[in-house]
Amino acid sequence: MEYRVVIPAAGQGKRMKAGKNKQFLELNGQPLIVHTIRLFQEDSWCDQVVLVANREELEIMNELAKKHSLSKVTVVEGGEERQHSVRNGLSSILADSIVLVHDGARPFVPRDVIHALVQKAAEMGAVTAAVPVKETIKRVLSKRVVNTLKREELWTIQTPQAFQLSLIKEAHEKAQAAAMLGTDDASLVEWLGHEVAIVEGDYQNIKLTTPEDLLFAEAIFKEREMR
Ligand code: CTP
Ligand code: MG
Repeated sequence: MEYRVVIPAAGQGKRMKAGKNKQFLELNGQPLIVHTIRLFQEDSWCDQVVLVANREELEIMNELAKKHSLSKVTVVEGGEERQHSVRNGLSSILADSIVLVHDGARPFVPRDVIHALVQKAAEMGAVTAAVPVKETIKRVLSKRVVNTLKREELWTIQTPQAFQLSLIKEAHEKAQAAAMLGTDDASLVEWLGHEVAIVEGDYQNIKLTTPEDLLFAEAIFKEREMR
């Protein structure tokens, strides 16, 4: 089955405190974003990688793609918020198809999860990778517990999220018109009133967000080398 993927990488990486966009941090000898793109470059189901970069980094992203022979990559300009970056990426795709949105900062998503998402999106229109939460989650206001949520109903939402292109484009356009900002793309589809399915993801599919995540990333690379 064929799909395209939009990879937002136009953030600042502020919480990583690396003094630069975390996408360029070297992990196991290569920039983070190269690891992420490679997952799709090497997947025969993937037709195109739309890489979303901020204006100052358009050129360096194009150079990286060339240097690493990432031939499926098209680079487009991002926006102020992640949602704007994804919207720009989506608008560069014209032919209706299954489209994945996947964070540049998640270099470990397994191929079987990607393929399960593509298949589910063809069936359902919208689907996200997710894993059951392992810890107890409480709602807290002003450092006082309000209540305890039912753990068996809680999932941590990851990317990739996969959609029929026409559906996710409609969700983004309507959200833009209503100035609605969601923290992920699936939430915009939910807001439209359309069902979103879950595909069970992988606990190793972490998003590199804060400095300690680099330690976890190193451990995952090490474990994969030993396989
Ligand atoms: N992203 C983007 N455009 C933005 C903001 C974020 O394309 N305006 C991308 C990031 O580059 C990242 C993904 O969205 O790959 C997930 O966002 P996050 O982990 O929050 O990354 P940053 O926004 O870069 O980090 P921070 O929030 O710590 O500044
Ligand atoms: Mg951010």
